[in-house]
Amino acid sequence: MQFQFTPIGYIHSCYKDRFGTPRQPHLAPDSWAVLKLRPEFNLREALDGLEGFSHLWLIFVFHRNTNRTVKAKVHPPRLGGAKIGVFSTRSPHRPNPIGLSAVRLERIEGNELFLSGVDLIEGTPVLDIKPYLPAADSHPEARGGWADERADTRMPVSFAPEALASLETWLDRLGRGPEHLERLKRLIVQTIQLDPRANCYKGTPDEPHPYTDAYGFLLEDFNIVFQLVDDGALVVAADPWTL
Ligand SMILES: C[S@@+](CC[C@H](N)C(=O)[O-])C[C@H]1O[C@@H](n2cnc3c(N)ncnc32)[C@H](O)[C@@H]1O
Repeated sequence: MQFQFTPIGYIHSCYKDRFGTPRQPHLAPDSWAVLKLRPEFNLREALDGLEGFSHLWLIFVFHRNTNRTVKAKVHPPRLGGAKIGVFSTRSPHRPNPIGLSAVRLERIEGNELFLSGVDLIEGTPVLDIKPYLPAADSHPEARGGWADERADTRMPVSFAPEALASLETWLDRLGRGPEHLERLKRLIVQTIQLDPRANCYKGTPDEPHPYTDAYGFLLEDFNIVFQLVDDGALVVAADPWTL
């Protein structure tokens, strides 16, 4: 049997590319996305009642995967290079490249759902929306397998004065107020402190930062560039990429 699905809508996200995007929802609570339902499908009535839910499940397609083959075992970032069966991971590289994220629903305006705490990139096609049911979906006693032993760590993040000045200048030119600056700074910290680098760029306890390169990712209107320093990460540049 084969199945063909049509996206009900597409994601407009603060994250523009795979690098930098958190590996799960809620890791960066200030992250945001708008799910724009396709107007031609007249789905507004399908949203009736959804506003009462604080969280949603999104079922989507990893449309920006670049792998050509699917492997039975993958290297999740938290396993530091070790391999494990793909079905015990949330890897995007799976036999059917379908993603599942529980995100916060902030509000609904017409055909648009405003979301936060996302791990989806710009343009992601969404196949379905389901309400998150706390009584059925939340299991505080659940075991987390290998992931329980590999809790996410957070590294300190600071800003070089030039990067901060650039953010301030450009947000001012874009007509965004001080609240936007504060939220964006929080979002940059939340994003980088998770250490988005691939395992191969991470060092060992003896040599924690073998690469001196800068790493960049696109967030909202900015190309955010950071480097690893002794005590964490330093944001060295934040220049607009949209202008
Ligand atoms: C590990 S997956 C988890 C996604 C979802 N929460 C799940 O469990 O199915 C999250 C990563 O997928 C990547 N990603 C997000 N949207 C994508 C898309 N549309 N196409 C390809 N990769 C995507 C980002 O790099 C992000 O860090």
